Amino acid sequence: MIFRPVNIGPVHLPYPLMQAGLAGYSDRAMRLVARRRGCPYAVTEALLDVILLNGGKGLKQSIDINDEDHPIAGQLIGSEPKQMARAATILSSAGYDVIDVNLACPVKKIRNKARGGHLLSDESTAIDMLKAVRDALPARVPTTLKIRRAYDDSAESHEIAERLLHTAFSCGYAAAAVHARTVEQKYGGKASWDFLRKLKRRYPDNIIFGSGDVFDAASAVAMLKKTGVDGVWIARGAIGNPWIFQHAIQLLNGVDEALLNPPTVHEQREALMEHFLEAMQIHGEQLAGRRMRKMGIRYARFHPESQRVKDAFINVLSLRDWQKVLDQYYKVDGPGVWPGAATVDLVNECAA
Ligand SMILES: Cc1cc2nc3c(=O)[nH]c(=O)nc-3n(C[C@H](O)[C@H](O)[C@H](O)COP(=O)(O)O)c2cc1C
Repeated sequence: MIFRPVNIGPVHLPYPLMQAGLAGYSDRAMRLVARRRGCPYAVTEALLDVILLNGGKGLKQSIDINDEDHPIAGQLIGSEPKQMARAATILSSAGYDVIDVNLACPVKKIRNKARGGHLLSDESTAIDMLKAVRDALPARVPTTLKIRRAYDDSAESHEIAERLLHTAFSCGYAAAAVHARTVEQKYGGKASWDFLRKLKRRYPDNIIFGSGDVFDAASAVAMLKKTGVDGVWIARGAIGNPWIFQHAIQLLNGVDEALLNPPTVHEQREALMEHFLEAMQIHGEQLAGRRMRKMGIRYARFHPESQRVKDAFINVLSLRDWQKVLDQYYKVDGPGVWPGAATVDLVNECAA
């Protein structure tokens, strides 16, 4: 067997798969559409601690979660250990099952404020932060961290990241998700799965999730096989592809890759409609329209007339526009297509 179920403290995942934190994408709408297609666990985008401490003013969406949106990790990003600890208690009281600390975001506006990935070059603050968050929560609430393999490719930088991981596990963190790129790499270049494989060998008794270059169900399963990590964090590969979870589950259950089917046109229509309606509930119609354009463009890669559908989604402003695209291109059912390899070209930013 190439996979085992995973436990993050008391949180049980029947399959070692999760939907990543993805700023600007992984809101409740994206999470629910994925969960209904097999996703066993999801992480919020990075939430800025000071915003939570100020009552949530300035957050792009409420931190409320509904019954269907579990198990869920609330991910925090910040620069000051005590503030992060207080923000962790806010998320925990709001019902998040796991609290995740972001030591990974490479975006400059975050780094300039000594948050996220920047903390990989400020070891003592990162250690204080990890400990403060852990100490602030009752033992029953698991904490996890998201980290890059290092800040840069220097030996010193790798040693710091390793010490941070070691500290996290020794003070009771239940799991670490490791993005196998350096902070300096941002989202470009290749993720080093070899690094993940060696890391997992050094931490056989700790839960390590792998992140980086998981663009379809086959690569999710390949990461498990090649690196031995305990779970796979599915990020860009999940944008506009909520079926990636059910496909990965099929592969984990021994189905041959050649027997997987892309979503039919009607299955795509169903997910697209569901996604827009959920997004509208969270953001209102106008903002949902803006956010969903980029989603629609990603979904379009499974459509037989992919380019035309993309062009149509670009102009969407409202639910009516969205429905018009669905009526024009998704009315007649038929087989979907597998996207070509070159379609995961979006790269970008953590908006936190
Ligand atoms: C647009 C975008 C937003 C992201 N936002 C977050 C975030 O809020 N929190 C986080 O932990 N990682 C974030 N990430 C990183 C991803 O979760 C993931 O680690 C990274 O994309 C590597 O995986 P991939 O190569 O399979 O996409 C983001 C990545 C992208 C592209």
